[in-house]
Amino acid sequence: MQGLSDLRAICSAPGKVILFGEHAVVYGHPALAAATDQRTHVEVDCCGTEFTVNGFRIHDRFHSYLLTAVNQLWDRKDPIRIQTEGGVPSASGTGSSAALTVACVGALHRLLGRSELADLAQSAFRVERGTQGGGSPTDTSTATAGGGIAISRSDEPPGVGTKLWDVAWEHEGEERRSWTVERIDIPDLTVVVGNSGVKGRTDEQVAKVAHAARKNAVVRDALADIGRITRQAVPLLRAKDFVAVGALMDKAHAALHMVGVNHPAVEQLVKAARATPGTLGAKLTGAGGGGSMFALTERPQAVAAAIQAAGGTAYTVKLGGPGVQWHDTPPGATSSAASAAAAGPPATVS
Ligand code: PMV
Repeated sequence: MQGLSDLRAICSAPGKVILFGEHAVVYGHPALAAATDQRTHVEVDCCGTEFTVNGFRIHDRFHSYLLTAVNQLWDRKDPIRIQTEGGVPSASGTGSSAALTVACVGALHRLLGRSELADLAQSAFRVERGTQGGGSPTDTSTATAGGGIAISRSDEPPGVGTKLWDVAWEHEGEERRSWTVERIDIPDLTVVVGNSGVKGRTDEQVAKVAHAARKNAVVRDALADIGRITRQAVPLLRAKDFVAVGALMDKAHAALHMVGVNHPAVEQLVKAARATPGTLGAKLTGAGGGGSMFALTERPQAVAAAIQAAGGTAYTVKLGGPGVQWHDTPPGATSSAASAAAAGPPATVS
């Protein structure tokens, strides 16, 4: 019989780029997001004598997402060791905390014999929201599903793709909320993400927009505009009409500026990208207030160089990477054995 100390699970999950709909998604409008080709791996085993992360005792100051995942999911006394290998640059606006959360939850679920992706997306959202406060399940569902997704509140589902799952937030003293996640077609695209280096906190930006939306009809109209732009983008992405998609990105960026989440350092990167011949569109991505932008361009290398020259850090990422995967061996090990078994049988604790 397999003992607890023999158990090990290795799981990876991708980063993400929010293509359209950030902030508006908090107000019932849809958002579109795509997984990237950057991945974070998490390995969990039960061989230790205390709870550790990369050899250090787990600590909420350094391992907030992982500790929340362990507290919420690991209902056994046996200590676990967690090893992480982050392929998604942190604080880059490309979903590093969601990738880490989904990979860790995926590994824990496997050890616990839980194998449904919808269950994983739900658990990962609870962990992310439990760690960082408010927000939608856009990042965790993208990291779980991979490819492209549309998401909006379940009382007005996106209705633009094939339904994958619902994700709910239920918390004492808070109104129940539920989101519907759909699969959408997105083309194979390489985009350039530019990080301004100015840290914008998602919870602060979401609270700032809530305050502005209560007071100001211009902000509410801009959020509704973003909703319309997002819906228009779906068929254009499917049709690979990149010129029209780029034009919508520029419009979405202007609307996000009206919402109040643009930042001079991000604007400088957007301008640098747009000034480079071959660029079809550029917009901020994610919560804003600093953070990152991305550009759709026929010349990714030239745009990456322009972003760097404008003071940003550029990442060239491919959209549409696979979602959560489980592996037989850690990343980097000679691994024809890496099973990438998204729907494979779970390890069970016996
Ligand atoms: O900055 P990110 O990648 O966490 O994206 C935030 C997107 C918001 O719409 C502003 C909030 C949310 O959780 O949907």
